[in-house]
Amino acid sequence: MRGKLLQLLSQSKDRFLSGQQISDMLHISRTAVWKHIEELRKNGYEIEAVPRKGYRLRYMPNLASTDEIKSKLQTKAIGRHIVYKKEVTSTQDIAHQLVQEGAEEGTIVIADKQTKGKGRLGRPWHSMEEKGLWFSIILRPDIPPQVAPQLTLLTAVAVQEGLERATDLPVEIKWPNDILLRGKKIAGILTEMHSELDRIQAIVVGIGLNVNQQKTDFPEELSAVATSLSMEANGKVFQRSDVIVSVLEKYEHWYYKYLDQGFFPIKKRWEQLATTIGKEITAKTMRKEVQGIAEGITDEGVLLIRKKDGTLESVYSADID
Ligand code: BTN
Repeated sequence: MRGKLLQLLSQSKDRFLSGQQISDMLHISRTAVWKHIEELRKNGYEIEAVPRKGYRLRYMPNLASTDEIKSKLQTKAIGRHIVYKKEVTSTQDIAHQLVQEGAEEGTIVIADKQTKGKGRLGRPWHSMEEKGLWFSIILRPDIPPQVAPQLTLLTAVAVQEGLERATDLPVEIKWPNDILLRGKKIAGILTEMHSELDRIQAIVVGIGLNVNQQKTDFPEELSAVATSLSMEANGKVFQRSDVIVSVLEKYEHWYYKYLDQGFFPIKKRWEQLATTIGKEITAKTMRKEVQGIAEGITDEGVLLIRKKDGTLESVYSADID
């Protein structure tokens, strides 16, 4: 309900909306309207109230809370249920717990701050308070575990398209899960699954997006390799809720296309967007280094590298230079 109220207030921009108008539009009492307004104020929204005129929104904090996201989101399943927390160890931890409790597909867990944000290969993920978007999506696709990496590639496509639409910046994909802006990392994806031998019970897709950090917000070891949307847009501050809504809408589009039509459309789109393809690369796997031209990906999301001797090598997991 507060999401809808926020939507009304932000749509009416500089005009006042009377308590009666709001109560008619939302089918709630005027007392309920007043209570919701008070709640929004507590969360940092400045709402002017003038007798005989009504309410007017004067200032919106840069939140990615349930109300804020719901006031904009147009999806049917992805993000229909939102769990928003100020601080967590990792949104992945909360999402895994919710999976066990039977959370429905499309549920998202989002936090302003993670104290133990997780990256790939057990690395930490730096998750500064309110500067980025740290969230996990719960999916329950009826697919065998061996094709689960397809979901990582699908996520990369949705994040690339969502970010580009929200910012107009030239976002690129680097296999398997890095999203780059002008060669530096802007987002990361961590896909974890709950699985039986032949069926997936659930997949938790964790997405970390650097939105409004400035150079000094990153620890020294990251400042050469990481960037934020704001840093690449001359310091412009982005509304975090606009960015996540754009990504979730693209997510819904691609996820349901995947369930309907399989991996082929995702694979085509991924190959168009990935800068890795057609280039000379070095893939560092756990055991060795593979050098050659990245030719494409298989239906399982495996990277194919054509080596100098003409043979084709499949790479399942690696860091790419
Ligand atoms: C990587 O590139 O190494 C993956 C980073 C994934 C980070 C996100 S932030 C939200 C979710 N919660 C986590 O602890 N990790 C993922």
